[in-house]
Amino acid sequence: MLSSEQKATLDDYVNIGHRSTPGWLWQSAAYITALLGMKQIEDGLQGNLGEIGVWQGRYLFLLGLLSRENEKVAGIDSFVHSPDPEGFARRVENRFNLDASTAGKLTLIKEDSTKLTPEKIRQNVEGDFRLFSVDGGHLAHEVLSDAALVSQMMVPGGIMILDDILNSTCPGVIEGTLDFLRSPQGSQFAPFCLVGNKLMVTDKASADHYRNYLLHVIQENKDASIFRDTAQTISDFPEGVYPKLCGSDLIVVTWSGDYLISDNGGPVLIRTKVCDMHEMDSPEVQLPSVVSLFERSAAVAG
Ligand SMILES: C[S@@+](CC[C@H](N)C(=O)[O-])C[C@H]1O[C@@H](n2cnc3c(N)ncnc32)[C@H](O)[C@@H]1O
Repeated sequence: MLSSEQKATLDDYVNIGHRSTPGWLWQSAAYITALLGMKQIEDGLQGNLGEIGVWQGRYLFLLGLLSRENEKVAGIDSFVHSPDPEGFARRVENRFNLDASTAGKLTLIKEDSTKLTPEKIRQNVEGDFRLFSVDGGHLAHEVLSDAALVSQMMVPGGIMILDDILNSTCPGVIEGTLDFLRSPQGSQFAPFCLVGNKLMVTDKASADHYRNYLLHVIQENKDASIFRDTAQTISDFPEGVYPKLCGSDLIVVTWSGDYLISDNGGPVLIRTKVCDMHEMDSPEVQLPSVVSLFERSAAVAG
């Protein structure tokens, strides 16, 4: 399991800490990622954690906080879009090295991901991955290439997280994601959750396991702000019927208080369905501790 210090840092990072690292991350995606990462640990799943498209490490650091002592973290970025490639890379490395639970775990591969092979990446981390985020180039061929690359390095039960599928500024991600899921390699994988603009995908044999886990957590915690709207949406569908993507049932987390922290650190409200800007500070839209919610749900599941 994670140490108690690591759990405290993880809780803080999901709730507030991620705001101080520039980048793109919806809070609901951070929350669900933390739950799934802890679930993998509870299941005894071993593997490294990685990301293509690091920027300044906002999401990668969350993955780092979900790693065990013997697991490594790989960050891949050519820093092509960065105004200060060396500064960005140094900041990410310093961030990892300053925290006891992530120190010494990170390898940054400063290369074009579309030119990498699984062997080259494995050389850096000694082994395959249980969590991997694809958030590099957003053109269709880049997403397809990155997803195909990552799919060759996932352990059974590993989760690939594809970013920006519903971001209207980069429609190529829709095309690349579908091209991947419909390819012979990609059709071994099934999407099971859409949250905060991230599509969670795993091998077909494991999709029910994670879907059922999320359903259990949502049902057990339907009074928590993050799950209230989602639980209602699920109950609005006929029993057992869910939104589908490429033939696979999806748990779509529709948290009304979701927000994205802009690159300059200010919150930008994304969903206005229930939540107004002034509600951002309301306890109603503040999330319960992800670690306590995980532990309570595990205790209930027995
Ligand atoms: C949207 S940003 C990633 C945001 C980041 N995941 C976060 O948590 O804030 C996309 C990143 O992908 C990188 N990138 C774009 N094309 C790439 C490529 N072909 N290979 C490696 N990195 C690439 C860019 O340099 C940029 O840092």
